[in-house]
Amino acid sequence: MVIRGLWVCKVRLAKRGGYLGLLPVLCLLVFACLLAVLFVDYIESWVTSLGMSRGVGTHRVVLPQRIPPTRSEEYLLMPSPLVCQRAKPYLITMVISAPANRKARQAIRDTWGGEVQVRGHRVITLFMLGQPSDPVLAKELVEESRERGDLVQGRFLDSYANLTLKTLSMLAWARRFCPQAHFLAKVDDDVMFNPSALLHYLVLYGATPESELADLYLGRVHMRVSPNRNPASKHFLSEAAFGGAAFPDYCSGTAYVLSRPSVLKLSLAAAAVHLPKPLPPEDVFMGLCAQTVGIKPNHSPFFSGGPPVPYGRCCYQAMVSVHHTKPEEMLRYWADMHSTAPCSWLRVRTSLGFCKVRAHLGNLLGFAL
Ligand SMILES: *[C@@H]1O[C@H](CO)[C@@H](O)[C@H](O)[C@H]1NC(C)=O
Repeated sequence: MVIRGLWVCKVRLAKRGGYLGLLPVLCLLVFACLLAVLFVDYIESWVTSLGMSRGVGTHRVVLPQRIPPTRSEEYLLMPSPLVCQRAKPYLITMVISAPANRKARQAIRDTWGGEVQVRGHRVITLFMLGQPSDPVLAKELVEESRERGDLVQGRFLDSYANLTLKTLSMLAWARRFCPQAHFLAKVDDDVMFNPSALLHYLVLYGATPESELADLYLGRVHMRVSPNRNPASKHFLSEAAFGGAAFPDYCSGTAYVLSRPSVLKLSLAAAAVHLPKPLPPEDVFMGLCAQTVGIKPNHSPFFSGGPPVPYGRCCYQAMVSVHHTKPEEMLRYWADMHSTAPCSWLRVRTSLGFCKVRAHLGNLLGFAL
């Protein structure tokens, strides 16, 4: 398509005797647009890198020598403590789920969460929950855990305000019971995650058994976000909890990936900082911890998080995470994505380009295209 377009340009140019008319300029413009669509992810990465703050961590906090050990009693439900020792997973995905979202968990088990071997690596998926206030739900969770063996339940009330505790509980569990995993992905239960695309990306990025991408903290980076000072908002954060004008750059909490060393360093930082009340949102809190230990977030255009990404088979084959996916959509998309052979390089490029452009335009105009 591109080649043919260029050829037409050349022929027209030749006919006009090489005059610099409007046509060649237009042709060039169309060609540039096509290139931009094909490589939209590179452009996004570049633009993001320009916007990210360059400063390193402030390092004002004195880090503890060691992290307090995780105690089994902190968990009400969990799979066998040997689950990782047996599986030796390369990637563990921990899905942050609310007790009532059973349908979302089942959709994940029936789709991407059901994968055990991806690109030659062992992967496992578990769900991280707190305690429901409803005793009926609590009983159902015990039942679900017995049936599926993939729930980790921390000893705290499962509420929006306690999401940061949930993440800390997740990190503590992974440290103690899954030190075998090279990478930990934290994913929300309304996210269409794609372990295969992630592992592909990590290889491109330079993950080899030797270099474990030391301090990886990968996702969609949010830059220069100001704290919400409106006391009526559920995102409200007081001056006492966070005094700065903007948070350090952080990865969107919908899905992010940490390497094993990052899990340890972030846990150290979290143990060192005094937990303010109310707690900042969990992704902001991770960003603060990362800054404390000098870990910089890595932006990947393959993580959605902001604008919704419209479904495209080849596009979704390349995306690592797509936010706001309903359980029914997850099942439908997953079946469609795997209904045919993987898309060719060019198909992925064009599909990704168009779905990204649609997502950004839709975001700009304020509705889904
Ligand atoms: C967070 O969990 C703790 C422990 O269960 C509980 O005491 C507290 O009320 C919860 N906080 C909120 C805001 O839900």
